[in-house]
Amino acid sequence: MFEKLELISADGILGLMAAFRADQDPRKVDLGVGVFRDDRGETPVLACVRAAEAALIAEQTTKTYVGPAGNAGFNQQMEQLVFGAHPALKAGRVRTVQTPGGCGALRLGAELIRAAAPDAVVHVSTPTWANHVPLLAGSGLKLERYPYFDPETGGVQFGAMMAALERLPPRAIVLLHASCHNPTGADLSQDEWRAVRELVKRRSLLPFIDMAYQGLGEGPDADAFAIRLLSAELPELVCAVSCSKNFGLYRERTGALHIVTESSAGGDAALSQLVRLARGMWSMPPDHGAEIVRRILSNAAAREDWAGELEGMRKRITGLRHELVRQLRAHCPRRDFSFIASQRGMFSFFGITPEQVRRMRTQHHIYMTEDSRINLAGLRAENLEYVARATAQVLG
Ligand code: LMR
Repeated sequence: MFEKLELISADGILGLMAAFRADQDPRKVDLGVGVFRDDRGETPVLACVRAAEAALIAEQTTKTYVGPAGNAGFNQQMEQLVFGAHPALKAGRVRTVQTPGGCGALRLGAELIRAAAPDAVVHVSTPTWANHVPLLAGSGLKLERYPYFDPETGGVQFGAMMAALERLPPRAIVLLHASCHNPTGADLSQDEWRAVRELVKRRSLLPFIDMAYQGLGEGPDADAFAIRLLSAELPELVCAVSCSKNFGLYRERTGALHIVTESSAGGDAALSQLVRLARGMWSMPPDHGAEIVRRILSNAAAREDWAGELEGMRKRITGLRHELVRQLRAHCPRRDFSFIASQRGMFSFFGITPEQVRRMRTQHHIYMTEDSRINLAGLRAENLEYVARATAQVLG
């Protein structure tokens, strides 16, 4: 049977990760996969995570099953982290299931939508994170695109985006990035989010929000602005969140799916379906990372430590944005890269051609995805100038 299968190429982002690891050149620079790196190029385990993990190992008395909805304490903490002191939470309209990472949350959300509306179409931004496509379309939902990024300005084509959303039929699903848009780094302003809320409400669309970088844009509360704004006035919302980046728990696969429903009874029905769907896909999510997050968020001192470490990551990335713009201005004076400084989160579209991306890799050992997405956190004080000089060379 398997003889008939075709050999397919590796996922673009993961293939790049493997190629970078295999590259023996000491000058190599990884601007590919979206992981935080410190100025030594390492992705450290956060100190607050180490402490919570040590306590967990010392105190855990059993490894028995938890259940398909995952760690209840984690789910409750995540609701508060994402929604804050939100009326939807108080009204009992939010239901949460712990998932294997943000990917699990995206897939579970898509499966729930498919169960409720098999013909629903999910509209994703152009461009969007490459893995959105297999995660969402894999559930059987149809995907379409709406305009988003404006390569001329490095910002959002807001007028075109709104015009496209305006044409969608009621009950269409709109996938939105809460903050730190992946892959472009171009986010909506608060006023633009308010306009999106009005449109979505008027047209009866369902927002499906992906928040994989809470705290890495402007801070945990500011980055959750869109979710809190939309869920205050809309009857329904789907929200996938990840703890990979903001807790540095990448390999622990820690995430959550939140569903906001019109009524508490609707929430119970949705939760019953989510639990059944999860059982059919992964049965139960891994507990280790979730229990670490629960311990951090439920302890005031640990939470403060986490907020401080998160701020450190955020400031490092913001600083690198400015430093890269400065270096590029010095080495590529004919090209304006100032948009990089005004974007948020880990990523930016560098705006070079696939051929130039290839030359950055083959001639300079600088790795980025083919669409020229760069992970700012891969830059270091010692390689910033090298990257700017290499850019000048490939631009010619
Ligand atoms: C990325 O966008 O690079 C990260 O979210 C890692 C991944 O799984 O693609």
